[in-house]
Amino acid sequence: MNREIKKICCIGAGFVGGPTMAVIADNCPELQVNVVDINKERIANWNNKDLSKLPIYEPGLKEIISRCRDTNLFFSSDIIKNLKSADMVFISVNTPTKTKGIGAGQASDLKWVEASARQISKYSRTGTIVVEKSTLPVKTAQTINTILKYSKESDSKNAKEKKFTVLSNPEFLSEGNAISDLVNPDRVLIGGEDEISINALMNIYLKWVKKEKIFTTDLWSSELSKLIANALLAQRVSSINSFSALCEKTGANIKDVSLAIGLDKRIGKYFLNAGPGFGGSCFKKDILNLIYICNHYGLKEVSSYWQKVLDINSWQQNRILSEIVNKMFGTIADKKLAIFGFAFKANTNDTRESPSMHICKKLLEEGAKLAIYDPKVSPEQIKKDLFDKKSINKDDNLQICVSTKDAVLDADAIVILTEWDEFKNLQWKKISLLMRSPSWLFDTRSICNIEEAQNHGINVWSTGFGKY
Ligand code: NAD
Ligand code: UDX
Repeated sequence: MNREIKKICCIGAGFVGGPTMAVIADNCPELQVNVVDINKERIANWNNKDLSKLPIYEPGLKEIISRCRDTNLFFSSDIIKNLKSADMVFISVNTPTKTKGIGAGQASDLKWVEASARQISKYSRTGTIVVEKSTLPVKTAQTINTILKYSKESDSKNAKEKKFTVLSNPEFLSEGNAISDLVNPDRVLIGGEDEISINALMNIYLKWVKKEKIFTTDLWSSELSKLIANALLAQRVSSINSFSALCEKTGANIKDVSLAIGLDKRIGKYFLNAGPGFGGSCFKKDILNLIYICNHYGLKEVSSYWQKVLDINSWQQNRILSEIVNKMFGTIADKKLAIFGFAFKANTNDTRESPSMHICKKLLEEGAKLAIYDPKVSPEQIKKDLFDKKSINKDDNLQICVSTKDAVLDADAIVILTEWDEFKNLQWKKISLLMRSPSWLFDTRSICNIEEAQNHGINVWSTGFGKY
């Protein structure tokens, strides 16, 4: 049996809700897609006529927005109205690590998910299909179902209970590639118990995704698969980063090692780039959540195994900081460091858990003067990330630059922290003339032409390189 879906409402217009709904709207012109958020400024930015002001930078996103916005894709702060008319509601709200109370520092804070479930319970119609898009601890669907069970058609005593079904449909997009990941996903995962609801969601994806790529399972396997996928990806990064240190000690070269091991089909060539550690809003929080869940079930060995993946990540950032200070005669106080890249990876303006942010904070603590250039992160965001609200004006040691040229003038060192394409082919001859000698290049992403930089008198350190 088929259930026709005409209107979708997505709660949360963030890095996931915005692009995901844009791609659904683009591929399903017959559907009306409404994306709602409590953050009015974010909604206003999504509605900005100037597409360079969209709240999120993703290659290919603004083209879709210009095709669909105000046609079958709408961004609004009117949550109630849009919940009332939707046949299907996606929950795509933030699920950060709890900062207070039981489980603080590990468990996911589900207060935004619970608030969404309560709003659905109150305003949505009976029969609405509720889809978990946020990454959630296993068994969250049970909590959502319990909240929804108490909903009634009206306030009157004899009012009928409203009926909902809950599906899990975790999102696997990675930032910077969000649109291509959504348009051409490796798989779409749907977890649930109700076949009609599963088919209704599947029919939406079938508009552009092949059936073989849509995998259905039970709710708990679906919720858990998302956490486990992120843990395994992060583990690959920590593994290769741990070996980058071994390469440096032994005179080997991590790039060749990655290529050599990646040729083995069982290992695969992707996700083996050594660097300044993983960042982004997902890996750390999802592993912490997994650790919390394992401890809850008494699986101490499993939780300590995953804790190590996080430990290596912090260790990698700290050892890069030590390399910079040690190479620059043991002190960077009052030295100018040009920082290339502030986003947590290339092709995004997202700075959440960015290795660049963590390393920059420590460089500032060491007394360095930083000249930061990132092609997409705004100066306001960089200041917000580096200074807390009280000391926001204490930025004497911070210069935010509009180009690499602007940043390198009189710099003692360049530190490459994000792998933006424009940092891959820098003009080392010109740069060397602008820097103060002895000058250094710290290429934490190993993307530069080291030999050329050296040929122009620049000292080089690159992650995982044991021989220069
Ligand atoms: P985000 O912080 O960018 O967006 C979440 C939005 O939800 C915010 O704009 C917030 O204002 C809004 N919101 C919160 N409570 C609300 C409510 N009650 N009503 C209306 N709006 C509300 O977060 P994100 O990066 O889009 O992540 C969302 C979820 O998707 C998280 O669970 C995350 O783990 C998961 N996820 C993220 C990514 C990624 O690459 N960022 C990838 C896959 C999965
Ligand atoms: C991740 C998951 O990949 C995605 O499936 C999930 O939906 C959300 O979390 P994201 O964090 O956006 O996506 O980007 P990703 O490409 O996974 O990179 C995460 C971090 O790991 C970045 O800081 C990146 O620079 C780093 N990384 C990645 C490496 O250091 N080396 C690599 O080889 C790959």
